[in-house]
Formats: sequence, structure tokens, C-alpha cells
Amino acid sequence: MTPLSNPPLSKNGLEAYWMPFTDNRHFKGHPRVLVAAEGMYYTRDDGERILDAVAGLWCVNAGHGRTAIAEAIATQAKALDYSPAFQMGHPRAFELAARLAKMLPGDLDHVFFTNSGSESVETALKIALAYHLHRGEESRRVLVGRERGYHGVNFGGLSVGGIPANKEDFGPLVAQVDLLPHTHHPDHNAFSRGEPDWGGHLAGALEEMVEKHGNQAIAAIMVEPVAGSTGVLVPPQGYLKHLREICDDHGILLIFDEVITGFGRLGSAFACEKFGVLPDMVTLAKGLTNGAAPMGAVAVRKGIYETFMDAADPDPAIEFAHGYTYSGHPLACAAALAAQDIYRDEGLFACAGELTPYWEEAVHSLGNLPHVTDIRNMGLMAGIELDPIPERPTARAFDIYLRAFEKGLLIRTTGDIIALSPPLIVERHEVDRMMELLATLLKQAV
Ligand SMILES: Cc1ncc(COP(=O)(O)O)c(C=O)c1O
Repeated sequence: MTPLSNPPLSKNGLEAYWMPFTDNRHFKGHPRVLVAAEGMYYTRDDGERILDAVAGLWCVNAGHGRTAIAEAIATQAKALDYSPAFQMGHPRAFELAARLAKMLPGDLDHVFFTNSGSESVETALKIALAYHLHRGEESRRVLVGRERGYHGVNFGGLSVGGIPANKEDFGPLVAQVDLLPHTHHPDHNAFSRGEPDWGGHLAGALEEMVEKHGNQAIAAIMVEPVAGSTGVLVPPQGYLKHLREICDDHGILLIFDEVITGFGRLGSAFACEKFGVLPDMVTLAKGLTNGAAPMGAVAVRKGIYETFMDAADPDPAIEFAHGYTYSGHPLACAAALAAQDIYRDEGLFACAGELTPYWEEAVHSLGNLPHVTDIRNMGLMAGIELDPIPERPTARAFDIYLRAFEKGLLIRTTGDIIALSPPLIVERHEVDRMMELLATLLKQAV
């Protein structure tokens, strides 16, 4: 596809845009600007190609510039650009909800649409609180998250999230929140391949929380099946099953935040399938539209939906006082349906699964390089943890990020961890190229 014509940006031209999660002052002196994308590659404003080792931001699972998605959006925009989201529907939204319900395991068969992962998280937490209220268990108000969890940037997600730096400027957050310990303990699980064999017992902390808060106090627990944004933390063997059992024993809703793991990242459509654990709700976004339009979703089990329907006053009554102007936006639905067609027709989730052993060998081949203290992986995800420079945490990994971009490779860093999650269309030679470049950069690292 022809890149749009892009006049070079002057320093002044960069100023007005307050960029998210970005060191704006540094960036505006050293801009990194992308102007086009196709397949596994971005194109920079100087015309250089950048190999994408992170699917944009964990979202472009079918690779870039998919014509079928672009055409579906264009066709939809011409036919029906916008339809009111409240008290009104359009065919694509019903079609997409039904399709997701069919793809999801068990009775996760009702879908609420949002516009992002953060909104999906807020929606799921609100559903959890209201659900218990409707069932007459109004004492259940405590929301549980986990240290090193990332659930977006809105108040509920920040509250159950476990990244202190993201929270400290914004309190007070949601009051009744508690966090489970994280599961990443390099003393026990460094250089694990797939699920670490140590740490399953850490789920038991949820039992202790039930004792601490009282038997009918906890409404829900939200966890990422594999924590992505804090550096690819793979759950220990048995951990998620154990959480499910404790939730069952104590009437707690289990929410999997699958904003990253949904749509094939682990080699199955959803992580809950991969781990054989059925949560009560699943939050989705990112790969839902292949990143081509902003969209999120929350899938809930049948009993949750029915509780809302049964509890409401007889007609007319809105059962859940929640929603967004752009919930189920026609363009996003068109993008999502086209993306799901591609995933299905090209068997991309299975491709990710088939490539996993090769990916695993490749990333672990970096294990002996300077500064590397841990490598872990699952599906087409990997975290490479580095020794921080004394007194300058995050600097070593960020320097590698900057130099990778110069050399034509897009990675992501979080703290002193390099996180990788290529599009699921990645081929072996591209994996090799990623590792070659990373090996060179690690050898030269400050
Ligand atoms: C697990 C998880 N939840 C929620 C979010 C927030 O999604 P968004 O940035 O679309 O709001 C993210 C984003 O990376 C995520 O990884």
C-alpha cells in the first residue's frame, strides 16, 4: 500500500501532541515516526523498514496492512457510519457478539462492547459489583488484583493493577481493593520454558484474603493469565486452576484480563482454553480488530447475564446502567469481523502454536549474552530480563530499545525487561533476524 505523503515534521509540529506513556521531552528531540506498515514491517518517515517484534503494541496479530480489514471498514463507513449505541442496534454488532460467544469456551456467551482494554476492565469490575448486589450479596465489594498486574489506566483498572508508578499520582483510588502477590521469583523460576514448575501454591494467598476480609466480602479477582505489560510473567503450573477452585469455594468471580492473550497469542484463541480454566468473565481488546480500530469487549457467563435480566424491574428498565457512545461502533465491528475471518481462514492461532517451540529455542539462545538475568516465554510471547545499570533502572533496556529502532527492529521494554510478541504471521527467518539483531545489541549494551 502506498504510504500517505508525509511532510517531515518540524520540531514545532511535534509540540501540540501530548503523547501517552512517552517521555515527551526526549521524544520531541529524537522523534520516532512511522508512516506505513505492511505484513511484518513498519516504514519509518525516512523510508527505512522496521521489523515488528511486538505486533505494534501486542495487537496486530494478523500482521499489518490487511486489505480485507481496510475494505470492510471502508464499506461499513459508506453504508452506516454510526448508529446510536443505546436503545438501538445494527447488524454487525449482533453478528460479532454471536461470533465471539461461539469462539469462547463454556457458557461465556454474552458480550458487552467497549472501545479499549481499559474500558473493558472498568466494565467487568462494575458488572462484578452489580452482579453480587442483584444476587442479594451486597456485602461483596472487595476487588482483588495482583502485584505486577496491568489492567489499563482508568480508576478501577489502576486500583486492581499492581504497578505502583502508575498509581502514585492519582489516589485515592477505589477503596476496597487488595492485591495478591505476583508469581515471578527468579530465584525459583528463572529461565523457565512455558509454565514454571515452582509457584502454584502462591494462589493460596487468595484463601488468606478471604479470611482477612470475611467470607462474603470479595466480589471478584482480576488477573492476566500471562502478565504482559510487566514483562511476560507466565503463571506457575496449576496456579490458575487453583485460583478457580478457591473462587468456586467462596463465591468469588474470576475475571481473566485477556486483552493481550486473546486472539491467538498463546497458540489458542484464548488463554482460558490453553490453561483449561473457565473464568466468569473475560476482558478483550487489541487483537479483536487486529489493532485496526479501537474496540474492546467483555464476555460474561450466561448466569451473570441472566442475573441482570432477572433482577431488573419489569419493562421498561435498563438492566445495567453502563455503556459508551461508541460501544459496538459499526466501523470497529466491521474491522473485528474481518480480522476474525483472517484468523480463521489462515489458521493463525494454530500457526502461533506450531511456531512456539522454534520461538522458545530462539529466545532462549540469548540466555548467555551479557546482562541477561532471565528469559521466559509462552506461545509467541517472551520476556528477556536484564541486569539494571546501578542507580539507573530502566536505562539499559531503553537504550537497547532506541538502538533497535535505529537498526530496524521494533521491540518493547518495561523496566529492564525486553518484551517480545510478534504478529502471529511471523516466519522462522524473521524470528532469526530478531534474535540476531538483539544478540548484537545485547553484546554492545552499555
Ligand atoms: C492486560 C491488559 N489489560 C488492559 C489493557 C489496557 O488496554 P488499553 O490500552 O486498550 O486501554 C492492557 C494494555 O496493554 C493490557 O495489556
